[in-house]
Amino acid sequence: MAPRKLAAGNWKMNGTLGSMDQIDALAEGHGGAACDILICPPAQLILPAVQHGKGIIKIGGQDCHAESAGAHTGDISAAQLMDAGATHVIVGHSERRADHGESDADVAAKAAAAHAAGLIAIICVGETEAQRDAGETLEVIATQLAGSIPAGASAGNTVIAYEPVWAIGTGRTPTNDQIAEVHALMRDKLQGQVDGAADVSLLYGGSVKPANAAEIFALANVDGALVGGASLKASDFGAIITAL
Ligand code: G3P
Repeated sequence: MAPRKLAAGNWKMNGTLGSMDQIDALAEGHGGAACDILICPPAQLILPAVQHGKGIIKIGGQDCHAESAGAHTGDISAAQLMDAGATHVIVGHSERRADHGESDADVAAKAAAAHAAGLIAIICVGETEAQRDAGETLEVIATQLAGSIPAGASAGNTVIAYEPVWAIGTGRTPTNDQIAEVHALMRDKLQGQVDGAADVSLLYGGSVKPANAAEIFALANVDGALVGGASLKASDFGAIITAL
C-alpha cells in the first residue's frame, strides 16, 4: 500500500446553494481522476454537496465537536456529519486554533470523535511566521503532531495537513526544500504514533494554485493538497486535481 493521493478543498465560510454548480462541474470533469477528490463546504451545504458530488466528489466537514450530541449551540458532531454523507472532517485548522482557542488536546479529542463516528480526520498543523523566523518550525510541528493525534489513529482514518499559517491566503509559499523538510519530519514522527505511518496521506496547504501545484506534488512525502481559495472555482481546483 502507498499513501492515497488526495486533492482536498476547504471552502471555509464561503458558498451558498448556488455554489453547487461548482460541485457539478467537478463531478462531470473528474470522474476518472487518479486521486481522491474532497470538498469541505460550510455545514449547511454538506447534504446538497453530497448529492451533487454523486460519489465522485467526496464531501467533508470543516470541524466537529468532541462529543457526539448534546447542549452545544452552533456546533456539529462527527456523527451528524457522517449522517449527512460526509467521509472526512478537518480538525485543528489554524483558523480554528486561532479564532476558537483550540489546543492540541482539543484537536486530538475532535479527531478521536471523528474516528469513533467513522470519519477520516484531516489533522492540521503549521507554524506561524514568527516561529519560522525563530527557527522553531520543526519543533512546533513535532509538538503539534504529538499532541493532536489521538490513540487509535491509522493510515485508514487519518490524514495530516501541513499548513504554514503565514502561507494561508497570502500567495506566499515555503520553498520546495522547506516543504520537503517538514513532510520528511512528519513521516518520521508518525512512526510509533500512527498504525501504518508510511501509508498516511500527507497534504501540503497554503496558497496552492494551478501554477505551483505540480511542483509541490513532485516533492517527496507530499501526497496531495488542502486548498482554500483556489478550491472555490471548479476550473482552478480542476487544474490542481489534474496536476496530482
Ligand atoms: O485549509 C486550506 C487553507 O488554509 C489554505 O488556504 O487559500 O491559502 O489555499 P489558501
